[in-house]
Amino acid sequence: MSKVIVMDHPLIKHKLTFIRDKNTGPKEFRELVKEVATLMAYEVTRELPLEEIEIETPLVKTKSQVIAGKKLGLVPILRAGLGMVEGMLDLLPAAKVGHIGLYRDPETLQPVEYFCKLPYDAVERELILLDPMLATGGSAKAAIDFLKKRGIEHIKLVCLIAAPEGIKVINDAHPDVDIYVGEVDEKLNDHAYIVPGLGDAGDRLFGTK
Ligand code: PRP
Ligand code: URA
Repeated sequence: MSKVIVMDHPLIKHKLTFIRDKNTGPKEFRELVKEVATLMAYEVTRELPLEEIEIETPLVKTKSQVIAGKKLGLVPILRAGLGMVEGMLDLLPAAKVGHIGLYRDPETLQPVEYFCKLPYDAVERELILLDPMLATGGSAKAAIDFLKKRGIEHIKLVCLIAAPEGIKVINDAHPDVDIYVGEVDEKLNDHAYIVPGLGDAGDRLFGTK
């Protein structure tokens, strides 16, 4: 079963309040999304394995810990996931970045992948999939399907806001994928928008409509 890790941190809650506020314009919205992504990077890396190495301080030889295990990759779902990349890279500067773009076919309503460019060694990495919104879960589920088809096994999903419906979809389809989320909202409305939510994340990030 997917673990759902809700980041119960006052800074994240504070910043999410202003991200949600409809009077927050694109400049401030982008800055806040970046800042929350950095805070989330701290939480999503909490369980990274460590190994001891030997070093010499100016005084003595000693053993000290460094990150071990798989290298990391960030994969934003286009377009709104882009808003989280820079903030994550502030804390994880060595991570490689892939991109995945999806649209929904108007006739079949099935997600179609229109772009996917991943690090050449993606299968050896732990990938952190980024999207501010987990609404119906359709986009994130499809993105995870596409990553797994390419042989990628270690995936975490990081979202600012999730609806219970989206969490269930990921949990049912990909129980091995843990979900890191800033806050879980009440529900989806009739247009599959998260309520109370923040509106359309891509439009608010990029000032489009
Ligand atoms: C938004 C959001 C997610 C998706 C969530 O993207 O960034 O990718 O909707 O909805 P779902 O869980 O119901 O699939 P959108 O498709 O609006 O594209 P955009 O990022 O280009 O704005
Ligand atoms: N996509 C968004 O950007 N916002 C929502 O509330 C739902 C899907």
